[in-house]
Amino acid sequence: MSGPLRLPAAPLEDWLRERYFRAETDISSSGVHNYTLGELRALDAGLRGGELDALMFRDGSSLGAERLRAAVAARVRPGSGQVVMTTHGSSEALFLAFNALVRPGDEVVVPDPAYHSLWALAASAGAVLRFWPMRPENGFVPDLADLRAVLSPRTRLVVVNFPHNPTGACVDPAGRAELLELVEASGATLLWDDAFADLVHDHPRLPDPSRDISRSLSFGTLSKAYGLPGLRVGWCVLPEELAQDLVRVRDYLTLSLSPLTELLAAVAVEHADTLIAPRLTEARRNRDLLLEWARASDGAVECPVPRGGVTAFPRFRGIEDTTELCERLLARHGVLVVPGACFGHSDRMRIGFSVPEGELVRGLQAISKELVELPAPKRRGEPR
Ligand SMILES: Cc1ncc(COP(=O)(O)O)c(C=O)c1O
Repeated sequence: MSGPLRLPAAPLEDWLRERYFRAETDISSSGVHNYTLGELRALDAGLRGGELDALMFRDGSSLGAERLRAAVAARVRPGSGQVVMTTHGSSEALFLAFNALVRPGDEVVVPDPAYHSLWALAASAGAVLRFWPMRPENGFVPDLADLRAVLSPRTRLVVVNFPHNPTGACVDPAGRAELLELVEASGATLLWDDAFADLVHDHPRLPDPSRDISRSLSFGTLSKAYGLPGLRVGWCVLPEELAQDLVRVRDYLTLSLSPLTELLAAVAVEHADTLIAPRLTEARRNRDLLLEWARASDGAVECPVPRGGVTAFPRFRGIEDTTELCERLLARHGVLVVPGACFGHSDRMRIGFSVPEGELVRGLQAISKELVELPAPKRRGEPR
């Protein structure tokens, strides 16, 4: 822990920070592969015309630009009484929400494993964490009985992330309904990290939780399904009466977004399907390819099926900690993946499968090669 916010290091960021810029084959990402400004401009006559030059660099509004907020609302279709606030990535939205909503001593239920912000921000705001385990022995399939077991009359917030980073686990529509009922009956507020909402593979996109319960906040982003992580735009859908609480935190942090990024983001959301559909089709093809690679490994690679998102979280027979394997992949093949230790499961590896097919194949071949060549003492159990 360090600094007044008492935030722990974020191992995922520490791992990616410099390696990201050195990788030749990047199969580490939790987002689809990226778009260029040119591709974005091609979608919109205004951007191709004089709209960019005419843009005045005024301060933005605290809740975000009307055009972007309207575009997000048209896509997410929040329940009544909810508003959209746009933020610097969903990271800012999560920071604002935890700092506005958590009082010291509140119980907050968080998934385990989870993206670091989801538990570390709650803890830094003074929450007592209760973990909802996603169990590797069940392929990380979320079990609502496990959630029920950690809910209590003191639970103030329940945090979920479906589809889930890094495992790709997701609730189906019936599971979503049961989850919402459980949280509502507990009296807690639901925080649904919906970063991968548009990347569900085996059933339609799940509706925003606010369609069915009023005490909910959801978090979206352009960083994952839209292929625009560098634009740094996300949002929060939240009850109108809470919006000012988040704005009061923002007043000390970012004040508002740039009108330039909000203009580009509005165009992206207005053309969401055009941006997302081709990446989603490719991701589903690549998911099959990755699962086939794991099946063909004769038990050396054991991979839970990702139901959403574009990451898989396989385990490797006989390897207790994949970190050295990940280092070798980068050093010898220029292939970037994420060691499972960044998510508290050192025997696993996060593989991002939204890349052009050839790149995924190159990355997987490099992993296979290293698995064969890995020195015996690094392995546990029988040799391959
Ligand atoms: C589950 C989840 N939530 C939130 C974020 C933050 O993303 P951004 O701030 O780019 O929207 C990430 C990024 O990896 C994530 O995986």
